[in-house]
Amino acid sequence: MGTIILGTGSCLPSRVMSNVELESIVDTSDEWIRTRTGIENRRIGGTGEKTYQLAASAARNALEMAQVDAEEIKLLVVGTVSSHMLMPSCACYVQNEIGAASAFAYDLNAACCGFLYGLDAGDRYVRTDTQSKVLIIGAETLSSRVNWQDRNTCILFGDGAGAAVLGHSDDSERKIIGTNHRSDGGLWDLLYMHNAPSQNPDLLVEDNPGAHIIMEGREIFKHAVKAMEEAIFGLFKKTGLSIDDVDVMIPHQANFRILNKLLERLEIPREKVVLNVMHYGNTSAASIPIALDEANRAGRIEPGSTVLFCSFGGGLTWGATLLSW
Ligand code: ACO
Repeated sequence: MGTIILGTGSCLPSRVMSNVELESIVDTSDEWIRTRTGIENRRIGGTGEKTYQLAASAARNALEMAQVDAEEIKLLVVGTVSSHMLMPSCACYVQNEIGAASAFAYDLNAACCGFLYGLDAGDRYVRTDTQSKVLIIGAETLSSRVNWQDRNTCILFGDGAGAAVLGHSDDSERKIIGTNHRSDGGLWDLLYMHNAPSQNPDLLVEDNPGAHIIMEGREIFKHAVKAMEEAIFGLFKKTGLSIDDVDVMIPHQANFRILNKLLERLEIPREKVVLNVMHYGNTSAASIPIALDEANRAGRIEPGSTVLFCSFGGGLTWGATLLSW
């Protein structure tokens, strides 16, 4: 008995950008990108594919699968760091687009952990109001937030959105089993993005190159593997479960090398792991809900399956969630 996912949805921009196309933009190669990251293609938003528009489309798909009307949604959360506006929130735009007139809506800034942190907030909301339905979305257009001259970062990211509708189940076997989330603001400068320059000269941030991603790739790599491993083993300890109990693992789709290292340490069979980073690159907060929706629609998740999520991102933020489907 507890919170369950009633429906999932996703939406990806139609434009595919290959590694070969990137070769004409920055000094890189298809071979370098494939061997260092496993990424082959990513999707790039075009006209009519702003963050809220992708999010709204993913939300409609999730609502349709859940057979929930938009007006039944009480809480609408969008994990994002790339909305086209700072205010109003992306979530308020989505609310308006889909007609979720009874909801309160807000954005959640936890970088790549936006969906998992949102799932935690949604779970707690449903548990205190078991009649309520909640919509959690991860949506990004990071193509608008990378420096296309910086080969260290622009090759990694892509655009997309994924969504999940949450509700209460009386079935004793089905619930979000547990979460183990952490942050460390002390390591903020390994991965960050400036805001628009301050209009108050006293509050100007020095050396603000503009609102795009800046990253210490090697440091992020080390922290990502260690943090996700610790979050997962911490969660097993908390819940009394082990890697053998996991039927499906849906990690944040950062890149193959990070994931390979993590999967080696977990000793989980590869066929249990959902991977799509080669097609979409790193879509930050959207990566887990997109992979979840694809796995769900492909029938990879069955009633009773134990599903493991884990993520890591700027903040730093990281965490793991276990649920019984
Ligand atoms: N194409 C060709 N060469 C490149 C590119 C590129 N796109 N980018 C960097 N290089 C060069 C560097 O300039 C460097 O050249 P030099 O030796 O002449 O100085 C060389 O390649 C090696 O660079 P490294 O940074 O040491 O390469 P590394 O093997 O560490 O791989 C990478 C870089 C892929 C970024 C790796 O550090 C990584 O995966 N980090 C994690 C980053 C990540 O996933 N961030 C996403 C956000 S956080 C998250 O989602 C978990």
